[in-house]
Amino acid sequence: MNTPIFPQSAPIGTVLIDRSAISSRISAMAQEIDAAYASTDAPLILLSVLKGSILFLADLARSLTIPVELEFIAVRSYEGTQSTGSVELVKDVSMPLRGRDVLMVEDIVDTGTTIAFLHEHIRRHAPRSVRLASLLNKESRREKSVTVDYIGFDIPDRFVIGYGLDYDGIYRNLPDIRVLDGEES
Ligand code: IMP
Repeated sequence: MNTPIFPQSAPIGTVLIDRSAISSRISAMAQEIDAAYASTDAPLILLSVLKGSILFLADLARSLTIPVELEFIAVRSYEGTQSTGSVELVKDVSMPLRGRDVLMVEDIVDTGTTIAFLHEHIRRHAPRSVRLASLLNKESRREKSVTVDYIGFDIPDRFVIGYGLDYDGIYRNLPDIRVLDGEES
């Protein structure tokens, strides 16, 4: 087998937030979360919203010092012909949340439709508390009123990829967050 030539092509798009900025911001978020849950009696449940949040989850979880459990939920978003999107549950949680502290971990809050849906859904599992940590926040696109308790970065209305975020299923593995080509300001 021939030795592969690497990199095969330059990464797409321009860097909006580089890996070191992501890393230091996550450390700061973890300190805030550590402090907020320091006196709770049971491990915090980090509820990762698949698939976009997994890189953020992995780094956040390793920066936290409090005991945590990891859980996953998956949704599919549909943009209908109306301006309001609808959300379908693809994979529910597989552990009891009753009486537990849950921190939803999301890659980005855009219109807020996904998180509004998930918040209502998780509430039905009767946890003691539900909060949200999102790496990115596109406030200017908001259609649903949602509280984002821990925000990594507020970003402008641009389509971003990398560090878990995809376009058509790809680019999730890029280590920096980039603006997709043609979307630069
Ligand atoms: P919302 O329901 O409109 O808040 O959208 C949330 C979901 O849309 C996120 O979990 C992402 O999967 C996707 N999304 C929104 N903006 C972007 C983006 O800029 N890049 C990649 N995915 C995005």
